[in-house]
Order: sequence, then C-alpha cells, then structure tokens
Amino acid sequence: MKCRRCRKPAVIDVRRHNAGFCSDCFLHHCREQVRRAIDDFEMIRPGERVLVAVSGGKDSLGLWHLLRQLEYQADGLYIGLGIGEYSDESRRYAQAFASGEGARLIDVDLPAGFGFDIAEGSRVAHRAPCSACGLSKRHLFNSVATAHGYDVVATGHNLDDEAAVLFGNVLRWETGYLGRQHPVLPAAPGFKRKVKPLVRMGEREMAAYCFLAGIDYMVEECPMADGNRHLGYKAALNTIEERSPGTKAAFVFGFIERVHDRFAPDAEKEREDLAPCTHCGAPTTGDICAFCRMQERATPLALNEPT
Ligand code: AMP
Ligand code: FES
Ligand code: ZN
Repeated sequence: MKCRRCRKPAVIDVRRHNAGFCSDCFLHHCREQVRRAIDDFEMIRPGERVLVAVSGGKDSLGLWHLLRQLEYQADGLYIGLGIGEYSDESRRYAQAFASGEGARLIDVDLPAGFGFDIAEGSRVAHRAPCSACGLSKRHLFNSVATAHGYDVVATGHNLDDEAAVLFGNVLRWETGYLGRQHPVLPAAPGFKRKVKPLVRMGEREMAAYCFLAGIDYMVEECPMADGNRHLGYKAALNTIEERSPGTKAAFVFGFIERVHDRFAPDAEKEREDLAPCTHCGAPTTGDICAFCRMQERATPLALNEPT
C-alpha cells in the first residue's frame, strides 16, 4: 500500500478513510483531524488557555502533543487517584512527557489533597469505582481550571470512547446524558467549557500517533476498570466496525449532526436547577455537591480544598 499523500510506502492503513499513510504524512493527517475537529465545533478560540487533562495514557499525552504542535497554549493537569502502583506509574509518564517538552504540568493528588482515594470514595458513596473516579475527575478538572484561570478543559476522549458511551446511552435511552454528549460542552455559570478534540481519532490511530511521534505512554489499563460496561460496548462496536469500516464514525457524527439537538433541552433542564455547593462553590442540585459529600463521608473531620 502507498501513502495517500506522497505515494511513498505506507506504514499504517486507516480503513475508515480507505487510506494508507507514511509516517510523516500520518502525523500530518492526525494534526489535520484535530485541527478540523477544533474548527468545526469551535472548541478553542485564539489566545485561549487550555488545560489538558492527562492520565499518562496514549490519548491524553497524544492530545497534549498535538495541541502543542498546533501551537495552542496548553498546560497539563494530572490527577493522582490513589490507585496504588497504577497511579504512581501513570504520574511518572505524565511528568516525563511534561519535562521532555518543557511544558507545565499541574499535579493534584486526591489522597494527599482531599484525604481519600478512589477505593474509599467508592465505598462510602456506594458507587462503582469508575463512577467515584469519574465524579472526582470531573470535579477536579473544573475546579483546577477555575482556580488557575484556564478558559477551556480538553480531555482525550477519542472516537471509540464517544461511540461506546453513545451506544450505552442509546441502549438505555438516557436522554439527559444524550443531551450533554457533544464534543463541546459550553461554559455555564460555575462550569468551564469542556472539549474533546480527539473525536475524529480512533483508538488505534492514537496508539500509532504516539508510537510514530516517539511518545512514551502508560499501556496498562486501570485495574479497577474490569467491571466497566463500556469495555463490552467497545468490543461489540469493534465487531461491527470490522465488518463495515466507518460505522462508528457514522454513528457518532450522525448523532451529533442530526439527533443531538433533540435531546439538548433535557440537559438544559438539568443545568437550570443548579446552584453553588455551599462548601466548594461547584454547581450542584443539592446544598452540597456529590464530590464534597463523598469527601465528607470518607474523611468526616477534614473537609477541605487544597490551596
Ligand atoms: P477515562 O475516563 O479514563 O476514559 O479518561 C478520559 C479522559 O480523562 C482522558 O483522556 C484524560 O483526558 C482524562 N483523565 C483520565 N484520567 C486522568 C487523570 N488521572 N488525571 C487527569 N486526567 C485524566
Ligand atoms: Fe478511574 Fe480506574 S481510572 S477507576
Ligand atoms: Zn462541593
């Protein structure tokens, strides 16, 4: 197979685009996919400061690299979730990338800063670990971006992630979630804008990007993710994609272009009922937000925000 762009021998084929690329042209192709996602959905405006949430994995480190290549002002945020050796190692990958690039990485540790880890938070809140983890990450992405004056938070959710979450939300007709599922979640009182610039990039392409760009990333998956039902949805979608390449992209972009607006009012309604948490100020439907409630139960005497 030859490179679609320069006709040199291809090193990777992207079946969805029915194209092969040599190394340089593939890196160029990835930058163009991200540039196009940012432009199409007006994710980041000129001069804005971006906070990239980095886990140490291929998607978020690749995203950070891509945004810097595209000359965005992008700093990193790593959150230590207290998941034993997994967290220690993922932090090392995030730090090594930041120092290699000379980029700023903000490091927030849940156990050190808030007095509990994901296992404890999950136990006291009677939530699955991934749910306690997702709640903590969303809370901290927003509060750190607010405290440090960033305009927008970028996460490394890729096309495979978006397709799996959409699939799950459709199977259960979670209309509120469907209304919020979009590559851009606009800012609102107490909320920074959230963007997913990798929405046009598949998981396999991100692994190839990191390999070809020389980015060293954490390969292991979180040890708590075993029961995560999105893994099952991903496997099901991969079976379908194998038979008809392009199905995942058609599913996700068809939803965004033709269906999302119909569910947006469901999400709006949920946002209208929000008021600041009496403890931390984050928007919530009750007096105290779910993150502070979890912290309060896990560490009854030490309800605090790190300075
Ligand atoms: P996940 O929820 O693990 O699928 O991760 C989705 C996105 O959240 C990643 O692509 C990152 O942008 C971000 N993320 C996940 N874990 C962390 C972490 N420990 N610290 C900062 N950002 C994270
Ligand atoms: Fe959050 Fe695994 S990374 S539970
Ligand atoms: Zn709170």
